[in-house]
Amino acid sequence: MSRKTILHMLTPLRHMSPFDVNMALDAGFDAAIPYTEVGLADIGNLVQDAIFSRPPDAGVATGIFIAGKDAPLALDMLGAAKKAMVPPFEVSVFADPAGSFTTAAAMVAKVEKALIKHHDRGLAGTAVAVFGATGVVGYCTAVIAASEGANVTIVGHDGIDRVADIAASIKERFGVVVEPADGSTDAYKTAIVRATEVVLAAAKAGVQVLSKAQLGSAGGLLVAADVNAVPPAGIEGLKVNANGEPLDATQAVGIGPLSIGNVKYKTQAGLFEQMIKAKKPVVYDFRDAFTLARELAK
Ligand SMILES: NC(=O)c1ccc[n+]([C@@H]2O[C@H](COP(=O)([O-])OP(=O)(O)OC[C@H]3O[C@@H](n4cnc5c(N)ncnc54)[C@H](OP(=O)(O)O)[C@@H]3O)[C@@H](O)[C@H]2O)c1
Repeated sequence: MSRKTILHMLTPLRHMSPFDVNMALDAGFDAAIPYTEVGLADIGNLVQDAIFSRPPDAGVATGIFIAGKDAPLALDMLGAAKKAMVPPFEVSVFADPAGSFTTAAAMVAKVEKALIKHHDRGLAGTAVAVFGATGVVGYCTAVIAASEGANVTIVGHDGIDRVADIAASIKERFGVVVEPADGSTDAYKTAIVRATEVVLAAAKAGVQVLSKAQLGSAGGLLVAADVNAVPPAGIEGLKVNANGEPLDATQAVGIGPLSIGNVKYKTQAGLFEQMIKAKKPVVYDFRDAFTLARELAK
């Protein structure tokens, strides 16, 4: 008997993201039901409510999606969901808060491809500076790049304190080292880009974080990427659909938000489709997103 595929979509926020609802239904789920203002403490009960309503062989047709805008909280919720399973009563779980896991995965995968193609090297040992690192996309971008062996600096637009706390929590949670840096003035940002080989911009939509002059002074820059599609660009002069073309005023190549968005979209859709087609319940986080984004990035 073919069962209906049902996705329970949980968010700690007041609204479930319409973007994620559309993505889930377009990927093939028969139903996507939003649950809002869900706390970490609610996860166990909600998951057990879902798992015991269907026979064990229907677990694979039942999914939990974890949204929100906080990566550590989403990972804690994913952990709580896994803990709530009572084998053989198990369901699939996928976390992608504010699209950050799939967006960060797509950005790092595109940059890795550009490094290999244009500079004959990978992420390992490469100096990477992440702007917008206090945001959910920047956080996850830093973790993925550092996990791949890059020497990652996370830049705080309002000083070093918050990024220093984030660096400490990343080390504790993932066992990888990222260095905090103060990016609160143009002079500080210039010094940071002069010392880096890759710039990853994940700042708020419509905010320019780096100027052409700053990038022009970065003699060792190899790749600059930006996820902000709302004008002005996060990196001045970087075109939204840049896909490895030379970046004005630099020796580097650029990757724009629409090229990254294309891989992000396919990665999120692909993980939903994998959930639907899986033979056994699956659990996906940013690591699975990066694995798929690497296959999809061209
Ligand atoms: N291309 C794609 O497929 C795609 C998909 C999803 C998201 N995005 C884009 O990815 C970016 C990051 O998303 P997000 O959800 O992490 O965004 P976010 O929460 O709005 O914040 C991103 C970062 O920007 C910082 N910021 C705020 N004002 C700033 C300023 N004036 N100067 C420099 N930095 C500033 C934030 O600092 P605070 O912590 O102080 O707020 C935070 O570190 C956004 O531009 C979003 O539109 C792109």
